[in-house]
Parts: sequence; structure tokens; C-alpha cells
Amino acid sequence: MAKSRGRLYLWVCLAAALASFLLGFMAGWFINKPLQEAATSRSYHQSIQNIRRELVSEMKAENIKSFLRSFTKLPHLAGTEQNLLLAKKIQTQWKKFGLDSAKLVPYDVLLSYPNKTKANYISIVDEHGTEIFKTSYLELTPDGYENVTNIVPPYNAFSAQGSPEGDLIYVNYARTEDFFKLERDMNINCTGKIVIARYGKIFRGNKVKNAMLAGAIGIILFSDPADYAAPGVQSYPKGWNLPGTGAQRGNVLNLNGAGDPLTPGYPAKEYTFRLDFDEGVGISKIPVHPIGYNDAEKILRHMGGPAPPDESWKGSLNVNYNIGPGFTGNDSFRKIRMHVHNFNKITRIYNVIGTIRGSVEPDRYVILGGHRDAWVFGGIDPTSGSAVLQEIVQSFGKLLSRAWRPRRTIIFASWDAEEFGLQGSTEWAEENAKTLQERSVAYINSDSSIEGNYTLRVDCTPLLYQLVYKLTKEISSPDDGFESQSLYESWLKKDPSPENKGVPRINKLGSGSDFEAYFQRLGIASGRVRYTKNRKTDKYSSYPVYHTIYETFELVENFYDPTFKKQLSVAQLRGALAYELADSEIIPFNIQDYAKALENYATSIYNLSKKHDQQLRDHGVSFDSLFSAVKNFSEAASDFHRRLTQVDLNNPIAVRIMNDQLMLLERAFIDPLGLPGRPFYRHIIFAPSSHNKYAGESFPGIYDAMFDIENKADPRSAWSEVKKHISIATFTIQAAAGTLTEVV
Ligand SMILES: *[C@@H]1O[C@H](CO)[C@@H](O)[C@H](O)[C@H]1NC(C)=O
Ligand SMILES: *[C@@H]1O[C@H](CO)[C@@H](O)[C@H](O)[C@H]1NC(C)=O
Ligand SMILES: *[C@@H]1O[C@H](CO)[C@@H](O)[C@H](O)[C@H]1NC(C)=O
Ligand SMILES: *[C@@H]1O[C@H](CO)[C@@H](O)[C@H](O)[C@H]1NC(C)=O
Ligand SMILES: *[C@@H]1O[C@H](CO)[C@@H](O)[C@H](O)[C@H]1NC(C)=O
Ligand SMILES: *[C@@H]1O[C@H](CO)[C@@H](O)[C@H](O)[C@H]1NC(C)=O
Ligand SMILES: *[C@@H]1O[C@H](CO)[C@@H](O)[C@H](O)[C@H]1NC(C)=O
Ligand SMILES: [Zn+2]
Repeated sequence: MAKSRGRLYLWVCLAAALASFLLGFMAGWFINKPLQEAATSRSYHQSIQNIRRELVSEMKAENIKSFLRSFTKLPHLAGTEQNLLLAKKIQTQWKKFGLDSAKLVPYDVLLSYPNKTKANYISIVDEHGTEIFKTSYLELTPDGYENVTNIVPPYNAFSAQGSPEGDLIYVNYARTEDFFKLERDMNINCTGKIVIARYGKIFRGNKVKNAMLAGAIGIILFSDPADYAAPGVQSYPKGWNLPGTGAQRGNVLNLNGAGDPLTPGYPAKEYTFRLDFDEGVGISKIPVHPIGYNDAEKILRHMGGPAPPDESWKGSLNVNYNIGPGFTGNDSFRKIRMHVHNFNKITRIYNVIGTIRGSVEPDRYVILGGHRDAWVFGGIDPTSGSAVLQEIVQSFGKLLSRAWRPRRTIIFASWDAEEFGLQGSTEWAEENAKTLQERSVAYINSDSSIEGNYTLRVDCTPLLYQLVYKLTKEISSPDDGFESQSLYESWLKKDPSPENKGVPRINKLGSGSDFEAYFQRLGIASGRVRYTKNRKTDKYSSYPVYHTIYETFELVENFYDPTFKKQLSVAQLRGALAYELADSEIIPFNIQDYAKALENYATSIYNLSKKHDQQLRDHGVSFDSLFSAVKNFSEAASDFHRRLTQVDLNNPIAVRIMNDQLMLLERAFIDPLGLPGRPFYRHIIFAPSSHNKYAGESFPGIYDAMFDIENKADPRSAWSEVKKHISIATFTIQAAAGTLTEVV
């Protein structure tokens, strides 16, 4: 029985293979002549361009709109049934689009949820212990969503449980510099107090860490209209500003790249050893809870203590922003009490992993991934990105149906539990670390595709600058007033680079999305692109309704991108990047741009050190070796690119030798020991800032060693730490230059 079924299967396979070969052949012959030319080296570049244009022209704004509509009907919180159903739907569609495979990959990770029967809130307690004011449990539900269940109320995932009570201190954004101001200049002691901080400027997990270090027993996070409302714009649903009942959800972990808090370094599989919950990496030791500005105004109204140190500490609520501790006058006996009952739970999550097998170098991977899980409807975050990813996969599927196949393997990923600390993407990176570091050419991220409607925003490795410039020149600008111009032209006009006005701005990679494990831990060349606001005029943080119930399909359709043309441009760019990286004979990286970036970063950290000119001399600190390594790297890069122009494209071994050097260059910046106290941040050139996970810092080891050096107890050992990190950077850059030399 098994045998005859096996034979039948063989015949069916053979017939299917023959049919698909004939179909593919005919389709290729009649429909798509350019696809055929890919085979011949002479016309290779020409045909690469044609296939890319075909891919890009397959993408339709209308399709992105219908994916966004379909994926935002219900909430898709990580670990819920609804998010598993969406994973299955995406998997089914990927198979239908024609991917070679599409699998669900589960992990069991630590997530954090509010208690359904015991709501979180914050109260003002009078001198008799009576709660005379309570913050709201829920946001006001937008029209049309009244009957939706499973909407998680605003909370901060991985907060500690507890009901601390005490006097309140206003700590501005709870940044490192804000606590310096309070403790050093104003002599305010946060020990034993509850602090209240506005959201914005930095990652919320850094705020919680700073509050813990200051000795606070709880932290309240609120959205101030100064940071979450644009002047002259109405609140949702009439406009895109944050309503007074809106509160930003979000995790408050300080994971430093660990992924699942219980299995740092290893995939969260059934057999994996787990830490106890209370040993979990980066979990807050104090209660944290977010509130909207209606409630914040009531809590801040009667704050006593000194006035804010300067205007930058004042938001735009009708209160005085006094620092505290505690309330003023008759209210001074009143206290603040927090009620936080979130619980941690090991929960199954699912990534969807799809593949297109490469035809020539199947063992070389280009990864295009973005998360699927959302706090509520996820209209912007992440679904404006997952809808784009879906349209890119569909368009690649159309090329596949015409007998095209990329040179290298393309891996598509729909990550889970990004909102809980980049967990799905990090666990998959951990499970596949050995193959990924040997085989990955690049990782392109597909989180939110819009956070504003002004211009393009790109954060990527310097290796990708030229490719991004080239591709944006061939994509049409979606901006009003730039009809018939390229995306590059509108981008350059609206956001020129501060260092070189002749090209558009590109930022360093920090963290805050799923590229983190690929770039900062594994050293895989990475990039992210999206549409953004006007950095010069728009002073609000992220976008006003970020991580609230108001991130709906209608928000995107009515206010951000009514024609879906901006999301289409982002789809075209993300898709074209993946395409070029997967199908170009020579990997389209430019190493000379890395050399220029290194010169710039070395000069800038040296400039920073010059504030301490005398100590540099006293402690014998020199940057000469670093500049020498950068110079050597620049020469090696020039020499490499000279040889690249001479490589014999008909010699597959010669091509592979150059491609391996290109692929492995980013890997050469990885130090297996990692940065101090952050073993999973291993890139010596870039890391998420120690003071703001979202921002990228260059030469993070040197920067952190020098940070606040004038206040360190033991200047001798502090400067010796600086010397150590200059030496590590020097070695790493010199070693990276070594990987570029001609093989002897
Ligand atoms: C939620 O709160 C109720 C009531 O206090 C309690 O019995 C229950 O154990 C809590 N649930 C979780 C998951 O902690
Ligand atoms: C919600 O449910 C009620 C009662 O079934 C129904 O009348 C109403 O139309 C529903 N609202 C929406 C927006 O579907
Ligand atoms: C802050 O207060 C705590 C407890 O009241 C005390 O132990 C600590 O020394 C104080 N810190 C400073 C810098 O005064
Ligand atoms: C404080 O309380 C006293 C006595 O109850 C009252 O007369 C006074 O008006 C109050 N002051 C303020 C500022 O509310
Ligand atoms: C979209 O662009 C228009 C025109 O520049 C601007 O007035 C509006 O505020 C933008 N919308 C958003 C959500 O940024
Ligand atoms: C470093 O300082 C020099 C002189 O002050 C200045 O010209 C240069 O622009 C600075 N470079 C960087 C990258 O900060
Ligand atoms: C840079 O190259 C020169 C010439 O080969 C060499 O003398 C120097 O030591 C190199 N710099 C470093 C930091 O290794
Ligand atoms: Zn996101």
C-alpha cells in the first residue's frame, strides 16, 4: 500500500513537474522575454533591471489597501487565538502566491497580560485612605468597533505587580539627563517615591530602568499633548491627534537583545532550559502603568515642590509641571497609589516563514521580515508593514509563475511577539544562528510602512547606501507636487543629509524592531525604510495615536495615505531591495561608503573626547591607532572595489570569492564577547544607545566608556576603560580590513 501510493505520488510529481516546466517555458517565451535573458551574462544587468521593473510594477496600491483592510478587522495581540488565525491566513496566502514553502514556526516565550478581572488603575488617596480619584481603565472605543471583543486595555507589558503608595515626583521624560538635573542640580531624591514621566524622546524601557536606578517604587507614564498632538489637528476620529482617553501600550523590558526573557541566547523550544520568572532578563522590578492626558492633568494639577527647572520641562497641559515631591497646600496629605496586576505567562507564539529557493546559490539567503502581532488593530504598527510585505510576496509569486527564480534564496518572515521585546524574530535568529551567520547576505525589515506622510526615512548599514539611492531614483515619488519626479528627488529635496547636502539623509540603525538580532547580534547587513513626518516642523513623538485603540484602518485611509501611494512606494523599495540583493550576480554592497562612515564616526567620537583635552593627555589616551585602522580599511575598500571591476563574471568561483567577502564584511564587525554588560549587542561599530534603545550609537563601547566620565569615582580606571575600547575598535576595523584583501 505504502509502495503503490509512493509510486502514484512519483507519477503525479513527474506529471506536475513536466506541466509546470512546459507552462513556465511557454509563459517565459511568450509573456516574458526579459526573464529569459537572465541566463546570458552579456545582458545580465539589463535583464536584472527589467525583472526588477516588472516586480515593482506588479505592486498595486489597491492590493495593499485590501490587505490592510482584511488584517485590521480584529485585534492581533501576540499569544492569542486571533493572531494564530492570522498567521494561518498569511501562510495559506503565501502558498497560494506560489512560494516554495510556508511554515508556522512556534516558540514558547514569556509574555505579559493584564488581569481580566482585576483592572489596573492609579488613584489619588486622601488623608483617610479613601481613593478620591481613579484613572480610567479603558480608552473610548472608536465608532464601528463597539462589538469587538478581546481589546486589551492600556498597560505596560512586563511591569511588576503591586500597589505602591507614596508622594509623586515629576521627572520630565525620565531620561538620563532628566535624573541628572533632578539629583545633581535640584537635590531631589526619588528614593521611595512614585515618579511620573511623559512618554516620548526615548524608549519607555529606558525610562523604567532610570526610575529604578533612582530608587522609585513605581512609575506612571503619560502622553502629554505637547508630545502626542500636532497643533491645529483634531483628535481621532475627526483628525489624527491622540484623544484625551488614549494611552500608549508597550513593553518596558530592558532585554538588550535577549529575546525571550527566560531563554537568553537559545531558542525557546520544548527542551530549552528556562530561568525562573523572577530571574527573567530585563523585567521591571517596579510597577509601571500608562495613562492618557485627561487623567494626567488631574493627577498633576496640584503638584507642589519647586517649579520646573526650565521651559523644556513643561508640556502643554494646563498645569504648572511642579516637580514635587507630593501635592501642594491642603492637598499635601494626599498620596498616589498604583494598582498593577499584570501577570507573566509562558505562551506559544508563531512565526510564518516562507521561502523561494535560489536557482544558482540556494545556500545564500536574503531575508525580508516584519511583525504581525499588534497591540490592538495595528492600523499603522505593524499592519501598514505586513500589508506591504503581503503585496511584495504576491508580486514575487507572479514572477515565479513566469518561470523566474532568483539567483539566491529569499526568506519571508511574519514575526510574532515583536511588541513583547522582538521575541519571534530573536528566537528564530537564535534557533538558526549557525546557518544564518554562514549564509545570510542581508536582512530587510518590514514593520510599519508609514509614521507620517512627508518623505522617506531610511536607516541602514552603510553597505546599502548606494543601492538605496539607485533604487529610489527608479521609483516614482508619491508626493504631491513631485508628479513625474523620482522618490529620490522628493526625498533629497525634503530631507538632505546633514553631512553632504548632495544626497538624502540616511540614519544609523538602533533598535526597536525585528532587524535587531540580525544586525546587532549576528552582523548581517540590514536596513529599514518607511514614510515619515517632517523632522523640522513636526515635534510630536512617533505618531500621536501610536499603540492605542485608535490605530485603525480608517486612521490610515482618512489621514495618512488615502491613495495608498506612499505605502506602495515603500513596498516597491523594500521589494526592490530584496530583489537586487537576491538576484544580482555581484552583491550590490558598497564598502567605500562604510569606510567614509567609519572616518566620520571616528572623527565624531574624537571630537567628543576633546572636551577632556587635559585628561586625554594626563591618562595617555590616543585615537591615533583608531584613525590608522580606519585609513587601512579605506585603502582596503578602494582596492577591493578596483578588483571588483575586473572580476571575470564568467568564472563562478571568482564571483563567489568576491561575493563571500562582500557578504561577510558586516560579520567582521562582530566581537564574540559583545559590548560591556550587553552580550547580545556584538557589533563594534553600531549599537542601540544605552540611554535610548531606539537610537543608534556609533562606537558604542568608546561612547559609553566616556559617558559622564567627569563624574566617575575613579578617573584612572574610567580612562583606562576608554583606552580598552579604542583598542577593541582599532583591532576590529583592522581585522575587517583584512577580510577584504586579495586571497594569496
Ligand atoms: C486575577 O485576579 C483575580 C482576583 O484577584 C485572581 O483570583 C486571579 O488569580 C488573577 N489572575 C491571574 C492570572 O493572576
Ligand atoms: C453591534 O451589535 C449590535 C447588536 O447586535 C448591532 O445592532 C450593531 O449594529 C452592531 N454594531 C456594529 C458596528 O457592527
Ligand atoms: C535618598 O533617600 C534615601 C532614603 O531616604 C537615602 O538612603 C539616600 O541616601 C538618599 N540619597 C541621596 C543622594 O541623598
Ligand atoms: C484649605 O483648607 C481650608 C480649611 O478647610 C480652607 O479654608 C482653604 O480655602 C483651603 N485652601 C485651598 C487653597 O483650597
Ligand atoms: C499629510 O499631509 C498634509 C499635507 O502636507 C498635512 O497637512 C497632514 O498633516 C499630513 N497628515 C499626517 C497624518 O501627517
Ligand atoms: C569635528 O570637529 C571639527 C573641528 O571642530 C569639525 O570641523 C568637524 O565637522 C567635526 N566632525 C564631526 C564628524 O563631528
Ligand atoms: C595600518 O597599516 C600600516 C601599514 O601596513 C601598519 O603599519 C599599521 O600598523 C596598520 N594599522 C593598524 C591599526 O594595524
Ligand atoms: Zn511594530
